[in-house]
Amino acid sequence: MPDVIAYGGDWNPEQWPEETWEQDVALMREAGVNRVSVGIFSWSLLEPAEGVFDFGWFDRVMDLLATNGIKANLATPTAAPPPWFGDAYPEALPVDADGRRLTHGSRQGFCPSSPIYREKALRIAEQLATRYRDHEALALWHVHNEYGCHNARCFCDTSAAAFRAWLRSHYASLDALNDAWGTAFWSQRYSDWAQILPPRATPTFPNPGQQLDFRRFSSDALIELYTAERDLLRKIAPGVPATTNLMAGAHWDMDCWAFAAEMDVVSTDHYLIGARAEPHIDLAFAADYARSLNGGRPWLLMEHSTSAVNWQPRNRAKAPGELRRNSLTHLARGADGIMYFQWRASRAGAEKWHSAMLPHAGTNTKIWREVTALGAELARLADVAGSTVSADVAILIDHSSVWAQDHPAQPSVDMDPVEEAKRWHAALWRAGVTCDLAHPEGDLTGYRLVLVPALYLVSDAGAANLARFVERGGVALVGPYSGIVDEYDRVRLGGYPGAWRDLLGVSVEEFFPLDGPIALASGASGTAWSEVAHAAGAKVLDTYATGEPAWTRNEWGDGFAHYLTTRLDDDGLAEVIAAVVAEAGVEPVAAAPAGVEVVRRSHADGRSYLFAVNHTGEDAVVIPPGGDPVTVAAGDVHVIYA
Ligand code: GLA
Repeated sequence: MPDVIAYGGDWNPEQWPEETWEQDVALMREAGVNRVSVGIFSWSLLEPAEGVFDFGWFDRVMDLLATNGIKANLATPTAAPPPWFGDAYPEALPVDADGRRLTHGSRQGFCPSSPIYREKALRIAEQLATRYRDHEALALWHVHNEYGCHNARCFCDTSAAAFRAWLRSHYASLDALNDAWGTAFWSQRYSDWAQILPPRATPTFPNPGQQLDFRRFSSDALIELYTAERDLLRKIAPGVPATTNLMAGAHWDMDCWAFAAEMDVVSTDHYLIGARAEPHIDLAFAADYARSLNGGRPWLLMEHSTSAVNWQPRNRAKAPGELRRNSLTHLARGADGIMYFQWRASRAGAEKWHSAMLPHAGTNTKIWREVTALGAELARLADVAGSTVSADVAILIDHSSVWAQDHPAQPSVDMDPVEEAKRWHAALWRAGVTCDLAHPEGDLTGYRLVLVPALYLVSDAGAANLARFVERGGVALVGPYSGIVDEYDRVRLGGYPGAWRDLLGVSVEEFFPLDGPIALASGASGTAWSEVAHAAGAKVLDTYATGEPAWTRNEWGDGFAHYLTTRLDDDGLAEVIAAVVAEAGVEPVAAAPAGVEVVRRSHADGRSYLFAVNHTGEDAVVIPPGGDPVTVAAGDVHVIYA
């Protein structure tokens, strides 16, 4: 990672006459831009016809960057095959679940399992890497762009064959697959591998095991495309790190844990969702996720927006100061690079209404003033680069569980595992407690408290991991409808949640989804969900009117395992989370009023930076532990050095 904070955005000079480029670079310098991502969508210009390459214009782009001391995240342009590709190889275009073959004309028009796509993608990547491997401007390979953003699952015959090959490598026999998928149900038993299809349109609910394995296969297919490019780039340019921009926290089609493990540095994109009441808390979730995916090391925010996006129903522009708060929050949560989509707002094309660092209206604008001010501020904050964020709390999250729960035949449509994880994260955010995200089978030894908001599916290894964590003195809080099925989406029998019945000291005999709120003895309120549960060793801390347990606590080894049998409303959840935070001995980062976000980054040598982000319209007083009170003005961000 750089010893400065990388600052910049996607630069797409090919959208503009060459006369503009010098001006672009001069303005980049004015804005403090030291890094741009180039070439992302340049395939049709770099290879205008199959096998015909034109790098002349791109040489000039790279040279201009080098001359101006700006580094490049050099992209392989493989996210957008040119029209000639779809024209020559229609069989390589993606097919949806209804059997519709899509056409070129937007981007990501390829089947992830297509051998011809892979061949052409590797060829352009090879050309690019061979040409620029020693270029002074090259800092990082930006492989592809947002894998699976639009074509995460392809249902064509090529994908079907690849799916069958994937299944054969995961199951010892067809019998094992039949057993895992429960194909005795609805007469789905396969007598030949060749009968197995992707879960294409079918009269009613598809087989859950088939659906889940197809999601796993599809994620693996994209990761394999990444590793194929990465390995080629490594061979041609050893020592140049590679990444691809994930959409951590926003898109759940790719297994981010598996993807991140293949990257030299994790990068991700994040966009505010205007319909959310507090989108900056969602931002914090995404940033915490990115940091956790990179093993706690500094990561790179590859894209966010200076103001509005163009793909939501109503694209709200950012308020004055919001850009700075957003960017500095990513920095506070461990990013060593703050980048945007894109440098100059497009004049034409599908994203012409998307904000950029340099807006249509030019430099006499709020956006430009904020962009240049932030560039100067990040230069002053260069010392932060390389420091890390530490957390005593982890939230468990797993894509397989999200995918399995995505199957349509569930007890209630109101149990959204991603939103629930975000809601629990938001409760910690409001309490000023920093948390990581962790894979259920990941290393939990450094944490005091582990939250399991919604982990419907957990493997045996994941189940044992949590029990071990508690046994060794940790505190866990498990949410309802967690630990229910095994890794094949088969119910764990004998009373729910089968994975953690002993750990929690509770046995559930039936789910009882709700239409409305339900009052608990404590005065708190449950929503959407309840369970008919029996304490089997656990102490009951709260109950329904029937006297049945709503919140329990079980002693297990040296620790405690709490369980909720309902989805508490926000206030009730905040209280339970405050209780387990206290029980685990976890402290907030600093004392701060509601709406003020506090996060600390530290170097191993003790230099540390307390970021205080005031999201409110009132001045606020923040009291760092053992420090003097600091006033953070309304909407301001303060970095307190220690
Ligand atoms: C994604 C893509 C960009 C652009 C932005 C728009 O992050 O990577 O190319 O489409 O979304 O928000």
